[in-house]
Amino acid sequence: MNHPQLERRVRQTIRELDLAGLHRRIQSPHGIDLSSNDYLNLSTHPFIKQKMAAAVMIEGCGSTGSRLLRGQRDSFSAVERRFADFKGTEASLYFGSGYAANLGVLATFVERHDLVFSDEHNHASIIDGIRLSRAKRIKFPHCDAGRVASLLKQAPAGLQKFLVTESLFSMDGDFAPLADYVEVCAETDTVLIVDEAHAVGIYGERGSGCVENSGTAENVFLTVNTAGKALGVAGAFVAGPQWAIDFLIQRARPFIFSTAPPPPVAAALEASLTVIESEPERRHMLSERSALLGRLLTSAGFPVRNPVSQIIPIILGQNDRACEAAAELQQAGFDVRALRPPTVPSGTARLRVTVNIGLDEATLRRFASTLKEICSTVCL
Ligand SMILES: Cc1ncc(COP(=O)(O)O)c(C=O)c1O
Repeated sequence: MNHPQLERRVRQTIRELDLAGLHRRIQSPHGIDLSSNDYLNLSTHPFIKQKMAAAVMIEGCGSTGSRLLRGQRDSFSAVERRFADFKGTEASLYFGSGYAANLGVLATFVERHDLVFSDEHNHASIIDGIRLSRAKRIKFPHCDAGRVASLLKQAPAGLQKFLVTESLFSMDGDFAPLADYVEVCAETDTVLIVDEAHAVGIYGERGSGCVENSGTAENVFLTVNTAGKALGVAGAFVAGPQWAIDFLIQRARPFIFSTAPPPPVAAALEASLTVIESEPERRHMLSERSALLGRLLTSAGFPVRNPVSQIIPIILGQNDRACEAAAELQQAGFDVRALRPPTVPSGTARLRVTVNIGLDEATLRRFASTLKEICSTVCL
């Protein structure tokens, strides 16, 4: 059946995206990985693969139902218990994705008449979660603790207030001032929710994230910890007090009204946590390699934030420029991707360069000099 009116509208929008340099194409991995979130190379770790494969043979592929129905498995509850211990919280709940976890958390705890203070660079899943809650979103300038403090202090008394932030920002690679947020949240009776998507598995003595690293665990209400990035598997753990986790089980619609993830994922996650706990050298190596790339890029003339993280944005401004630089890097064998609006603010299209521990020093040196060469022509 044809739908000419709809087709015309869609084709027009795609033409506009094309003209603005915003038409997206999906592209399989090709070349040296400088763009994935597999920071610790756990997605291909032999122990984790073996545990997951063995679980497939025992438990099969699909869970066959929601966790509240026949999709529940003891292995999900066991890994939730283990993650809570790792994170130092009373409990945790596993969602099929970080996107679903943020939607679930925000739409469950935030009510219509509440106020949500949200960093202007927060991930789309946080923005969508706040939208679902129908509460008022008050955007504050990126990582600006002083501004947040003044906004919170001006807020009408009696309203329930939330502050939501990523701990390590996915597109900027910089860290939220968690200790400052904790202080102002305590002063203003505000609930702090932290998305640790890019920090869990990496930061802190035990590798549980930036909340551990900044000593703020006692004062953070909930954290969202994706398991498809450094943990190398999939999904996300929401960690916090038992009463809050119990409430998510009652109310979080992405948890309730969705088929539970494949049960072998729980076995892979157990194995991933074992590796994170028993191989701290992986996160130490990541920190060294990130620092090295930071130094190489700085000497090549690119501005790199201090402290450096495993996410290093090279901001090129125009969409076409970022796409062209990414294409040239790909031709040279480096899998770097261009990030454009609305993923990043307009006028800040960039290469999102990420470090993983499979990158040796020679490769990083070669990458920095290739990038310099490409940018000296593309970025003129
Ligand atoms: C900060 C942040 N939160 C949440 C998510 C969503 O996680 P997932 O990919 O598991 O849906 C992402 C993914 O890119 C992210 O960067």
